[in-house]
Amino acid sequence: MLVRLCDAQDLPITGAKRFDVDQARLAVVRTSNGSIFIIDDECSHADFSLSEGEVDSEDNTIECPKHGALFDIVTGEPECLPATKPIATYSWEMQNGELFVELENE
Ligand code: FES
Repeated sequence: MLVRLCDAQDLPITGAKRFDVDQARLAVVRTSNGSIFIIDDECSHADFSLSEGEVDSEDNTIECPKHGALFDIVTGEPECLPATKPIATYSWEMQNGELFVELENE
């Protein structure tokens, strides 16, 4: 189901921002070329917020600030230890200036 996340103007200009919606904890990432990705905000290594991490717009990665795991923001796959499990990625739609995320039905 499509769930409204925010107005387009509330998105980060670049970098990541956390949104809590429908029991999901998401990080919306905007790279320096304007591409938008939505990923789980919770690192798969431990409970730490990926939206506080640094985004690399060239490599399309985000770095967990807690222990330094890198995640591909396109696929969710970890690119280095200590994370070994992927994080979820989500598709999204922009409708009339509002961002919607596709969440699984419960
Ligand atoms: S909590 Fe993210 S790498 Fe450990």
